[in-house]
Amino acid sequence: MNEAARTALDATPESMQPGVPQADAGFLWDFWYPAMRSDEIYGKHLATAMLLEVPLVIGRTSEGKAFAMRDACPHRGIPLSYGHFDGKDLQCSYHGWEFDACSGQCVLIPSLTSHDKLKVECIAAGHYPCEERDGYVWVYMNAAGTQLPEQVPAAPELPKFSEKFRIARLDCELPSHIDHGIIGLMDPAHGPFVHQSWFWRSKKSIHEKSKQFEPIPNGFRMSKHSPWTNSLPYQLLKKMTGEAVTTTIDFVLPNMRFEGIHSGKLWFSSRATVTPGRRDLCRIDFVAAWNLALPVSIFRAFAKMFLRQDKETMIEQSEGLKQNPRLMLIDDADRPAKWYFALKQNLIEDRRTGVPVPHPMTGSVTLHWRS
Ligand code: FES
Ligand SMILES: [Fe+2]
Repeated sequence: MNEAARTALDATPESMQPGVPQADAGFLWDFWYPAMRSDEIYGKHLATAMLLEVPLVIGRTSEGKAFAMRDACPHRGIPLSYGHFDGKDLQCSYHGWEFDACSGQCVLIPSLTSHDKLKVECIAAGHYPCEERDGYVWVYMNAAGTQLPEQVPAAPELPKFSEKFRIARLDCELPSHIDHGIIGLMDPAHGPFVHQSWFWRSKKSIHEKSKQFEPIPNGFRMSKHSPWTNSLPYQLLKKMTGEAVTTTIDFVLPNMRFEGIHSGKLWFSSRATVTPGRRDLCRIDFVAAWNLALPVSIFRAFAKMFLRQDKETMIEQSEGLKQNPRLMLIDDADRPAKWYFALKQNLIEDRRTGVPVPHPMTGSVTLHWRS
């Protein structure tokens, strides 16, 4: 089991110490992860990304199809991103082997002569399914040495509720293990301390909350409820429609938090994903769409501030985590974090044994905390 998850669980009252080997980085394979924004691949440019400690070279063919290959030539390992891409095939910079970008299959080895028996089509560079959604390039990361499923599931998409909408995307890197990034994302108790602001809330606004949660496949849902209407944005929304504001928040493995806010015909939908680049580095990608009269620039300014507050906290936390302290998860404010660890462990167990492990939640449950 990875160090970060271990320390996170050491002092957990209901410990769920998963039995993953030490060398395991604590990643969940066989899922889609966002590698970069769609506008980072253009023309014949080759971009690079690191997902789950796998270096990737990413580009788009002249027909517009995004592709993702392992950024290492199968011949001698030089990154393929140093090579040349003609819009269809990627040529390695070292000995000029060429690979079809959409399949990874080798199509040419320039040094071969009529005396050689080597079949170029039997050689392939590492290659991953790649799709674009909502302005992101998604890569399906199957574990090394495993076969892709017969039917790769569809890449995640942000729910939208009308034809016309505005959309904004933000990201920020965190010097943290994925598990800390995720439990930070779903942690309700840090709000009044980390995200203080005049329009949102202050330390003094802390009050008791009761929220109902229910199990969903591979995750859990904060059931539909009316958000705390002392926050200015919710008050404005209610004024605009004259109707109640409701919000639903889902967490779904491996790394996604969806939030949907509705009031009459107006809606706001967001998704945050925490994607592991390395075991000590992850990235939050935050995308939001809405049909309210909220300019993208204003939304971006506020969202940027929230992300910066989280990032600064995670940088400070990573300083403390270097000393490998014992950590705690408490009830009820940290219960979502416990569900995350349990869901993750169940999934690993499920895949290892082929026997479905029951959901860690047996039904709806109400959690109480002050925030
Ligand atoms: S290292 Fe790529 S062709 Fe030799
Ligand atoms: Fe936060």
